[in-house]
Amino acid sequence: MFNPYDTKSAKIVKITDQTPDIKLFEFAFNKMHFQLRLDEDILHKPGQFMILSLPGFGEAPFAPCSGTRNKNIELCIRAAGRLTNRLHALKTGDKVGIRGPFGSGWPSLAGPNPAELGGQLKKNVLIVVGGLGLIPLRTLILGKNDFLDKDAKVQIFYGAKHPSEMLFRNEYDDWRKNGINLQLTIDKVCEDWKGCVGLVTKLFDVASLVLNARAFICGPPVMYKFVLEKLKKHGFSDEDIYLSLERRMHCGIGVCQHCGVGPYYTCKDGPVFQYSRIKNIQGAI
Ligand SMILES: Cc1cc2nc3c(=O)[nH]c(=O)nc-3n(C[C@H](O)[C@H](O)[C@H](O)COP(=O)(O)OP(=O)(O)OC[C@H]3O[C@@H](n4cnc5c(N)ncnc54)[C@H](O)[C@@H]3O)c2cc1C
Ligand code: FES
Repeated sequence: MFNPYDTKSAKIVKITDQTPDIKLFEFAFNKMHFQLRLDEDILHKPGQFMILSLPGFGEAPFAPCSGTRNKNIELCIRAAGRLTNRLHALKTGDKVGIRGPFGSGWPSLAGPNPAELGGQLKKNVLIVVGGLGLIPLRTLILGKNDFLDKDAKVQIFYGAKHPSEMLFRNEYDDWRKNGINLQLTIDKVCEDWKGCVGLVTKLFDVASLVLNARAFICGPPVMYKFVLEKLKKHGFSDEDIYLSLERRMHCGIGVCQHCGVGPYYTCKDGPVFQYSRIKNIQGAI
């Protein structure tokens, strides 16, 4: 039986610097753990989260961003405080604890869980992300053919403060070769940047928007209101907008009540919510 508190030992097998304070960690589980829990084809769905722990430093939720058919799990982590600073000091070969995956993911239109979708479906996807918000979408981007209709168009609007803070930069050519329309912007003018300058919402004014699409939003909370305004202006219905909410989490499974949003728990009912479900909940966004 799946025990949500059962923490697996995971070994760091690769560490890649993404930005000065963000690293991409690849973790391998031992073979027995794979047989117990992780021997399914899909390790996690795009948009779910896992809880990583270090004895003496606590635990925290992170969104896996690996290709779902990878044997190993990748987590992209910003050094933000006690646990994550300690994690950034670790080396390959060191071990951490990981439990999960938990929560709902981004809705898919193909692949393992087409039944989770309801209502009138749009097959294309517009991803609007800022900063770390790209992390929980990378699995969807890498697994585009698993999770979306094979003809689905994917357009990404990604905003970062500075080009050096853009995540997964060395993958953009491959994403584009895979048919993804990637639109980038940075907050302020900077030398050597020839692309769009302005907040992520600026891309709605300069790029031609994918049609017949659902929108997936993830980023700093301040971004949501303005992105929602743009989406509404472009005719997206509340049912076609999905957003990932970030709340302080502890248990990750709807027990401790730390992550409540109205009648929902972000860990159990989210972190991805259809906008129509939460739009009337005060303080949700
Ligand atoms: C579902 C989910 C997925 C996440 N995915 C990622 C990810 O992929 N990569 C990543 O780098 N981070 C992610 N985070 C955030 C990450 O969990 C926190 O940065 C982490 O808890 C920091 O732990 P710490 O002990 O190092 O910092 P702490 O010492 O606990 O905190 C450092 C600072 O961050 C603030 N903080 C910590 N967590 C939150 C929060 N949830 N909301 C607002 N402020 C907070 C604290 O108040 C403090 O100011 C995610 C959070 C959630 C809820
Ligand atoms: S983290 Fe405990 S209820 Fe959500």
